[in-house]
Amino acid sequence: MNYTVSEKYFKLFSDLIYEKSGINIHNGKKELLQARIAKILRREKLKDYKELYEKVKNDKSGRYLTLLLNSISTNKTSFFREEKHFKFLSSVAIKELENRKNDYTLRCWSAGCSSGEEVYSIAITVLESLKNPDAWKIKILGTDLSYDVLNTATKGIYPYESVSFLPKNKIQKYFIVNNGQVEVDRKLKNIVIFRWLNLMQPFPFRNKLDFIFCRNVMIYFDKKTKENLIKRLYDCLDYNGYLFIGMSESLTGIKHNFKYIMPSVYKKV
Ligand SMILES: C[S@@+](CC[C@H](N)C(=O)[O-])C[C@H]1O[C@@H](n2cnc3c(N)ncnc32)[C@H](O)[C@@H]1O
Repeated sequence: MNYTVSEKYFKLFSDLIYEKSGINIHNGKKELLQARIAKILRREKLKDYKELYEKVKNDKSGRYLTLLLNSISTNKTSFFREEKHFKFLSSVAIKELENRKNDYTLRCWSAGCSSGEEVYSIAITVLESLKNPDAWKIKILGTDLSYDVLNTATKGIYPYESVSFLPKNKIQKYFIVNNGQVEVDRKLKNIVIFRWLNLMQPFPFRNKLDFIFCRNVMIYFDKKTKENLIKRLYDCLDYNGYLFIGMSESLTGIKHNFKYIMPSVYKKV
């Protein structure tokens, strides 16, 4: 079967993806889009792009839209990716929080958490850094628009190699090792929660957050989408809270109210 995408359907799909997720598929990404959609067509036994497009538009359950968006985004992640952020969290941000907060609540959000490694890395850092973690009410939320990655995140089972670089005592403390795999320990699972959320849709928070990690997510977004997202992230962060973005990302050229702290770390002051 030939799944070459026509100009018309390339534009229809890229506009739809942009509208629903903020992900910007420019002409240079045409082949990528084509390959990813062809996979869906084959798997779902659909005739052509038109049939998928109509299903995405008309299917009220959102199943086809989710399939489409999942196929486009990159889910690459790892434990303690961009380690400097975890060092900063431990040596600066959590220390400030301990001095500042007397209600002993710590709320953190990993927006675009993929399969959960980022969330569990934050959880380990928090438990290792707070002087008296038992006294704190800790909630670390991970959200993503891919159900597949959220499934992995909730299970918390990963290949042993993904954590083998950690000191042995940390592996023993935070993971259960079994048959070449590790499962995240209860003490981490108890303080994390995973939910589906499209960042283009309203956020569900009642309380302000202390830290937001939105790393390697905005790489797909154009300036307008980024600016809008950054403003909404600012609004749901507490004063003195921190925003972490990917180390290869920057807010240069984007209107925002954050104070720049160091590359990819921003503070609401
Ligand atoms: C490359 S991963 C980054 C994972 C992790 N933050 C890290 O830095 O290791 C990007 C994640 O963002 C998610 N994503 C992209 N657009 C999104 C949107 N509009 N709403 C929610 N999640 C989105 C993707 O599904 C993907 O899992």
